[in-house]
Amino acid sequence: MKKKTNFKLHFPSHLSFLLLISFFIGFCSCEQKQHSISSHGGLTEQEVLYIKQRQLLYYRDEFGDRGEKVTVDPSLVFENPRLRNAYIALQAWKQAILSDPSNYTGDWVGSEVCNYTGVFCAPAPDNKKIRTVAGIDLNHGDIAGYLPEELGLLTDLALFHINTNRFCGTVPHKFINLKILFELDLSNNRFAGKFPEVILRLPKLKFLDLRFNEFEGTVPKELFDKDLDAIFINHNRFRFNIPDNFGNSPVSVIVLANNNFHGCVPSSLGNMTGLEEIILMHNGLRSCLPEEIGLLKNLTVFDVSFNELLGPLPDSIGGMVSLEQLNVAHNRLSGNIPASICQLPNLQNFTFAYNYFTGEPPVCLGLQDFDDRRNCLPDRPLQRNAVQCKSFLSKPVDCGSFRLIGVSYASPPPPPFY
Ligand SMILES: *[C@@H]1O[C@H](CO)[C@@H](O)[C@H](O)[C@H]1NC(C)=O
Ligand SMILES: *[C@@H]1O[C@H](CO)[C@@H](O)[C@H](O)[C@H]1NC(C)=O
Ligand SMILES: *[C@@H]1O[C@H](CO)[C@@H](O)[C@H](O)[C@H]1NC(C)=O
Ligand SMILES: *[C@@H]1O[C@H](CO)[C@@H](O)[C@H](O)[C@H]1NC(C)=O
Ligand SMILES: *[C@@H]1O[C@H](CO)[C@@H](O)[C@H](O)[C@H]1NC(C)=O
Repeated sequence: MKKKTNFKLHFPSHLSFLLLISFFIGFCSCEQKQHSISSHGGLTEQEVLYIKQRQLLYYRDEFGDRGEKVTVDPSLVFENPRLRNAYIALQAWKQAILSDPSNYTGDWVGSEVCNYTGVFCAPAPDNKKIRTVAGIDLNHGDIAGYLPEELGLLTDLALFHINTNRFCGTVPHKFINLKILFELDLSNNRFAGKFPEVILRLPKLKFLDLRFNEFEGTVPKELFDKDLDAIFINHNRFRFNIPDNFGNSPVSVIVLANNNFHGCVPSSLGNMTGLEEIILMHNGLRSCLPEEIGLLKNLTVFDVSFNELLGPLPDSIGGMVSLEQLNVAHNRLSGNIPASICQLPNLQNFTFAYNYFTGEPPVCLGLQDFDDRRNCLPDRPLQRNAVQCKSFLSKPVDCGSFRLIGVSYASPPPPPFY
């Protein structure tokens, strides 16, 4: 297992939630509410109208509110107007919940929204005299449903954590109103469709976790110009070429694993000097590793395994002084392993199996944990056979030719290597 990441996040002082991250994946479909239709074959006009309205409610575009209208009982007394708005948002959400096996929302009744399970209030940032909803945490609720547009009424929300549920649909457009949202964790749900662009317009967002969903299409390149501290978008269906502005991202952790990313490992990576963990495994990256990665002095985890990387490991990796875990396995790398890598003071685990390396300095054999299987290393056990090695190594690798591929979204994929 990988070392646990220490997020250097600056939580708003009044909040102290634990970040619960889980890889549990549930099973359910995004069911819709059933309603009774008369059994005598044909539909009455009323029924047709009802169905049409239902469909409108569900499928009106993302600017509309999909929930049923919330009416506020005039006898309810609220501490302040913001909590009244929160009531509307949370009641709309409750109506958009189709299954709540642990009854988290069972107590979402009445005007005391700060007492609702999973809802956390704090003094408003702009008016300490009033309370307002600052956080939502329904992690591990196994709840099925969708997010209604009314959630945009929670304008003082700093944290929104709903990981490990069965929410589906898209991210409401009205999230644009969450101007101080700091952490957004939608991981391990059933969200689908394009990258939720509204996220790019949340000025205070630092922590973005969309992993384990069904998002698809490209990832907007603006994501990497945003002042985020952590980006987790692994295990989705995103597909794009890693853009050149990738290196503009000030993140300390970025995980893009298990998508369908193509193109190069960009040399701009060298600009991400605050980076501590980067995991690009299981994508379709095809390039040499840029020299510039040696500039990442704070990086502890570098995982580019299961891609189509070529060429040698740059000597400069020997300058990544914080490196603890290095995984370049299952690529098409070749050449000699630089001794400087195996001499890195903090290196614990160096995995480079399933490549075509031809030289391994003795110092590497002294590492705590390493995996050098299935290479072309003389005198090492469990290597590829001579025919395979000869055939692969007879083809020259021109690292220069890959530099340009990542630049253009439109360029066709390069011809297969073999
Ligand atoms: C859900 O919780 C509410 C309020 O706590 C309670 O009244 C209700 O009986 C619970 N429902 C179930 C199915 O447990
Ligand atoms: C809400 O919580 C507060 C503080 O714990 C308590 O005083 C109050 O009675 C609760 N209100 C309701 C309706 O449960
Ligand atoms: C790194 O950032 C500098 C300054 O923004 C820029 O000039 C340079 O091109 C970047 N390096 C790479 C490799 O993108
Ligand atoms: C790298 O880590 C050191 C020690 O934790 C820290 O002082 C420094 O600010 C970090 N560098 C960057 C660019 O974040
Ligand atoms: C070393 O890393 C590899 C690849 O990530 C992993 O499979 C292996 O379990 C790790 N070894 C240890 C001792 O953590």
